[in-house]
This record gives sequence, C-alpha cells and structure tokens, in this order.
Amino acid sequence: MGIARFIRTLMFLLFLSSNTFKSSVLAKTTTTKFTFRGFKGNQTEIQTGGESVIEHNDDLLRLTNRDHNVTGTAFYRKPIRFRDNNNNKVCSFSTSFVFVIIPSSPGNGGFGFTFTLSPTPNRPGAESAQYLGLLNRSNNGDPSNHVFAVEFDTVQGFKDGDDRRGNHIGLNFNNLSSDVQEPLIYFDTEDRKEDFQLESGKPIRALFDYDGPSETLNITIYPTRLRYKPKKPLLSQRVPKLSEIVEDQMYVGFTAATGKGQSSAHYVMGWSFAVCGENPIADLLDLSELPRPPKNTSLSNKKGYDSQVIALIVSLSIVTLFLLVLLFIFVIYKRQVQEGEVLEDWELDYPRRFSYRDLYLATEKFKASEIIGFGGFGIVYRGNLPSSGPIAVKKITPHSLQGVREFVAEIESLGRLGHKNLVNLQGWCKHKNDLLLIYDYIPNGSLDSLLYETPRRNGAVLPWDVRFEIIKGIASGLLYLHEEWEQIVIHRDVKASNVLVDADMSAKLGDFGLARLYERGTLTQTTKVVGTLGYMAPELTRNGKGSTASDVFAFGVLLLEIVSGKRPTDTENFFLADWVMDFHTNGGILRAVDPKLGSSFNGREAKLALAVGLLCCHQKPMARPTMRIVLRYLNGDEDVPQINGNLGFSDSLRDDSRSNVVGYVSSDIASSSNTFSTFSEVSSGSLVDGR
Ligand SMILES: *[C@@H]1O[C@H](CO)[C@@H](O)[C@H](O)[C@H]1NC(C)=O
Ligand SMILES: *[C@@H]1O[C@H](CO)[C@@H](O)[C@H](O)[C@H]1NC(C)=O
Ligand SMILES: *[C@@H]1O[C@H](CO)[C@@H](O)[C@H](O)[C@H]1NC(C)=O
Ligand SMILES: *[C@@H]1O[C@H](CO)[C@@H](O)[C@H](O)[C@H]1NC(C)=O
Ligand SMILES: *[C@@H]1O[C@H](CO)[C@@H](O)[C@H](O)[C@H]1NC(C)=O
Ligand SMILES: *[C@@H]1O[C@H](CO)[C@@H](O)[C@H](O)[C@H]1NC(C)=O
Repeated sequence: MGIARFIRTLMFLLFLSSNTFKSSVLAKTTTTKFTFRGFKGNQTEIQTGGESVIEHNDDLLRLTNRDHNVTGTAFYRKPIRFRDNNNNKVCSFSTSFVFVIIPSSPGNGGFGFTFTLSPTPNRPGAESAQYLGLLNRSNNGDPSNHVFAVEFDTVQGFKDGDDRRGNHIGLNFNNLSSDVQEPLIYFDTEDRKEDFQLESGKPIRALFDYDGPSETLNITIYPTRLRYKPKKPLLSQRVPKLSEIVEDQMYVGFTAATGKGQSSAHYVMGWSFAVCGENPIADLLDLSELPRPPKNTSLSNKKGYDSQVIALIVSLSIVTLFLLVLLFIFVIYKRQVQEGEVLEDWELDYPRRFSYRDLYLATEKFKASEIIGFGGFGIVYRGNLPSSGPIAVKKITPHSLQGVREFVAEIESLGRLGHKNLVNLQGWCKHKNDLLLIYDYIPNGSLDSLLYETPRRNGAVLPWDVRFEIIKGIASGLLYLHEEWEQIVIHRDVKASNVLVDADMSAKLGDFGLARLYERGTLTQTTKVVGTLGYMAPELTRNGKGSTASDVFAFGVLLLEIVSGKRPTDTENFFLADWVMDFHTNGGILRAVDPKLGSSFNGREAKLALAVGLLCCHQKPMARPTMRIVLRYLNGDEDVPQINGNLGFSDSLRDDSRSNVVGYVSSDIASSSNTFSTFSEVSSGSLVDGR
C-alpha cells in the first residue's frame, strides 16, 4: 500500500506543478506560429474563398487566375490571439511570404493582392478590381470593418484620377485608400535604391515585422534572385491605428482581385507567421525548400490537365508537326521538279499569294451578283474566305507576259504599304491571263455612293463632322504615299469613287499604285494619261506625267466636292473650283456648303476646308501646298493664307472685272500664259518654301 500512496502523492505533486506551470505561461501569452513551405497537404489548414485554390500539381496557393473581374481569399483556418494578456496591447508579430504575379500580358496586369488581418476568415461582399477582394464600395472606410491590409497594388490608385502610381505597396486601415504608400524598391546598399516590378512573373519575398512596444511596422520586399536581405526596410512606420483595428482574435491571410480589363494570376509559394510571446520571428523560407515557381505558360489551361496528358499532347503535336514539315518539303520538291519552268522567282515574293480555287469559291465562282464595283482597272467582287472573312477581289487582265511581270513587281512593293487610311492589300493571285488583287472588304462602300445616293441606307445625309474626318483621313493617306513611305507613291486617280468608307466612317484610299502600270502601258496597249476628268490637274493634259502636285490638285477638287456635295463635272462647262471661287469673291463662301446639310455644319471648319480646297486647286503646280502643309492647315496647326483674288482658275463663268488673271482648266485645254496669284501671308509659313 505504501507504494500506491507514494504514487498517488507523486501524481498529485505533478498535477500541482503542471498547473502552476500552465498559469505562469498563460500570463505571458504564448506564441502562435505556423509555416507553409508550399501548401501540399495543407488544404485543411487554409480556408479559401472565391477563385483561390491550392493547386494539386504544384503545391502553390493560387489567389486568382487570370480570369477577369474575379476575387479570391485565403486565410489561416484558425483565429489567432493578437493581444497580449498582460497589457492588452497588440502583440509583436512577424510574417514572411514568397509570391509571384503573372500578368495576362505584359503591362496589363491587375489589380493586386493584400496581406490582411481580418475578423472573419473570408471577405463576404468584397468586390473585385480596386477593392482587391477586401472591401466593397459601401463598406470601404467603415471603422467597423476592423481590417488592416498591406496592399500590393499593380494598377494605378484606388480611384481613377488619383495621381498614385501602380507597382506600390500601401497600408490600409479599414479603407482601400492607403494611409501610407511606397513605390516598390529595395535598398541595395544603405542608400542606393533599386526599383523592381511586382508583376514580373518572378518570385518576390516579403518580410513584415511589427514591434508591439514601439508600434512600429517594418516592411522589406525584394526579388528572391537577391541572395541576401536588403540592409534597410522599404518602409519603417509607426502604426498606432493598428490598435483601433485589431481585435483579441484575428484571422490572417490574403485577398486578391483582377479587373474587367486587367488581370494577373497571383500566387503564394510559401508563408510563415509568428505572433505574441518573446520576440516572435517567422521561420525563414529558403527558396530551395519551396515548390517551384508557377510557369507562365501553363496558366492558359485553367482546368489543370494532368502533366502526363500535356506531355502526350506535346509529343503528339511534335510528331504531327514533323510529318507536316516532311510533307511540305516533299510537295515543294515535287513542284520544283515538275513545274520548275512555270514557277518563277518573282512569283514567290510577298505579299501572300492566294490560291485561285479559294478565291473562286469565296466569290461564288465570280458570280455577277457579287460584283461591287468597276474600278479603274478592273472589276471588283465581294468574297468571303472561311479563314479570314470578307474580302474584296479585283480582277485585272493585263495584255502581255511583260505586263504580268511588272505587275507582280509592283504588287510586291504595294504589299508593304500600310496605313490606316489606305485599303489594305492582303495578297494576289495569278490565274491564266488574269491577275487578282485581294483587299480588305470595306463595308460602307465608296464615298461617292455615300455622297450622292439618296436616300442612303439609313436615310441620313452624310453629317459634317464625318465629312471633315473623311477629308483629314484622305489627306493623311495621301501624305503617307507622298512622303512617309520609303519611296514616293503617286496615286494619280484621287476621286470620290476611290475613297472607301469603313464601318467606323473612317476614309480609306483605294486603287493606289496601279496607275503607274497603266501609264507605262502595262495594262493597256498604249501609254495614256491616267486620271478622271474634273480631278485632273491642268499640267497633266500637257505632259501627262503625274506628280504629287497633281495628286494635291485632285485632292483639292475632292475636298470641295465633299464640302459642297456637288460633282466636279456637273455639266460640260462647269468647274467646281471656279464655282466655289465665285462664292469666295462675293464674300459668301459658306453658300458653297452642301445645301443638304442645312445649317448643321461647323462654319469655321467649312471655311477652312473650302479655303484649303481652293489652294490645292491652284493652277500652278508649284503654288499648291504639299499634303503635309494641307494636314497642318486642316488640323489648325498652321493658319491658311488669305486668298486674295484669283488662284488661276478659269474665268469663263465670270465677268472679267479681274481680267489680269487668265487661265483655263477643266474640260478645256489648259492655257496658262499669264496665270498668277496673290497671297497675303497670314502666318510665317510660306506655301512655296514649305515644299
Ligand atoms: C502542411 O502539411 C505538411 C505535410 O502534410 C505538414 O508537414 C505541415 O506541418 C503542414 N503545415 C501546417 C502549418 O499545418
Ligand atoms: C464583376 O463581377 C460581379 C459579380 O461577380 C458583377 O456584379 C459585376 O457587374 C462585374 N463587373 C464587371 C465590370 O463586369
Ligand atoms: C459590402 O460588404 C458588406 C459586408 O460584407 C455587405 O454586408 C454588403 O452587402 C456589401 N455591399 C455591397 C454593395 O456588396
Ligand atoms: C478613406 O480614405 C480616404 C483617403 O484617406 C478618405 O478621403 C476617405 O474619406 C476615407 N473613407 C472613409 C469612408 O472614411
Ligand atoms: C508570359 O508569357 C507570354 C506569352 O507566353 C509572354 O508574352 C509574357 O512576356 C510572359 N510574361 C512573363 C512575366 O514572363
Ligand atoms: C525596423 O527598422 C529599423 C530601421 O532599420 C530598425 O532600427 C528596427 O530595429 C526595425 N524593427 C523591427 C521590429 O525589425
């Protein structure tokens, strides 16, 4: 019995001592500590919400994927005691995590994520985008939120118009407008700052240390490629507000969000945390102990295919590709052997060569009902390619093999022209004696039909602002041809029916470049002057050689036509520039504006346009402005010179009160012996010097 008693006494003593031990520890508040080196097997430890998941394959915590307008939250499962039992102050704490942000495309990532202390293990009602899955527009700033967050923001501030930059961190107390914010940098040495990008796709380490007694929060953030911790924290800040926010027990975790337009995938590779007790220090997260960082490319398959399936698909694709390449080489080889004499080097070049069969099917066998125009050089068909959608196909028949050769050479250079106000040439095709050019299909048809077809499809008159934009569009297209491409291209047939109007009512110049072949006689038996009566500059009837100045002339006529809604060759003896000039000299130039517009046009712009039109129609080529100057006038960058008197237009319709001016254009043969003009320069820019 003695032994039994002894044991009982011993147990009693043990019980007592353990109790006193316990109570002394309670008074001190124990440290709560956890460490995730990757999240494998920790599904139950983390409460996820929204889009957040722990990825099975690679052990990463993914807060959001790159879907648009989503949120995600991930909190440690248990609430954690944050206040010291003795003095009820917020305990010291320390946390460390490694994260990766992969934007959907460089520079288009968003919106960011937060490290959060929250009274709840999720954020119900929180919104995406700038609310970062933390708060929403109605509870933002509410003191009853009791949330503290450090935001890692990759997008311009909380509200548009705020002057804050993206790529910063901020301290948020119940409010997504940060009290403190700092752009992302680390201190390379004591005072040398290096900045870096959050959305780099590379792992970044964050270390937070909060010292309870001094109420100071230190934050250090740096790319993991740095092997050492920077000497100085990015931010060392007293945060007394924290004690208003932190309740006895808090949840710790992350929230993240993407936006409607901007999105990133946000990942956490590892996370350690420690709070309360003596000097709590979160465990170090050695990169070698963490899972591999997420791969940028593997993001596209959100379903998370098995890696074996992916491997199978990849290897199958490689085999297929290999076979295709073999087949391709074989076909080329066979063609070269069999048709070596047919296939000539000049046929292989850029732009893309279409197969005749495709075009034949696309245009429903070149059916008459698919014809959408008779261009200067051939018939234009509408077509529909299964691969690239609607196209316009121009069919041209040159007259000799030499023609074909020159034609293809020309096409090669045209194919490299590219400007938003030029109809895009997609490619070409040769079939027997026919050559086919494939252009983008422009839905609204030609300017010609928009100006004169009444009523238009929607019954409306082409409004003034559209007309003015079309004028500017044509001008910048011509400027590109004249000055901005590698060689000068003269259009030679600027006219309303060669201007196409896109779905957004922007102008696109068509039929450029072909005129050269036409002039050389490639497309006809004889060399002839190219152009359309009414748009042809007077010098063309003499030397037949087109120049940039003759394009400017035609542009001038077209401009007057667009403003006045009047065809340049209404009747035999009518010349549009003369007609407008008459209004000008009688002081009422605005009477030339299309009567269909009524009074709904901008008088200043109309005056400007008419004046520029008149200047371009100057009978002397040297006196016309260049397209560069024309655009400067139209954009208001330069004042238009006053037009005093006559610019050398025909006098046939006018009384000869200004008989010192002689000169004829239009349907009459030009004879311009004594033509002169009078400018009084308003601005310093001289028309002639400007060339
Ligand atoms: C996470 O899971 C691993 C493996 O099951 C385990 O060793 C580790 O303790 C867990 N971590 C936490 C913080 O629960
Ligand atoms: C974002 O998603 C929420 C619901 O998830 C929806 O109410 C909201 O309209 C969406 N916002 C945008 C801009 O698509
Ligand atoms: C904002 O969040 C609060 C708290 O979760 C919720 O009660 C409220 O309905 C949310 N408001 C909106 C507009 O979503
Ligand atoms: C949130 O913070 C901003 C900036 O500090 C402040 O203008 C705004 O009033 C705050 N919101 C609320 C509801 O307190
Ligand atoms: C991710 O991949 C895309 C295309 O695969 C690439 O354009 C982008 O630069 C990559 N982003 C990063 C951060 O590596
Ligand atoms: C915070 O940073 C300052 C300045 O580097 C340092 O003196 C202080 O000891 C740091 N405090 C903590 C809690 O790490």
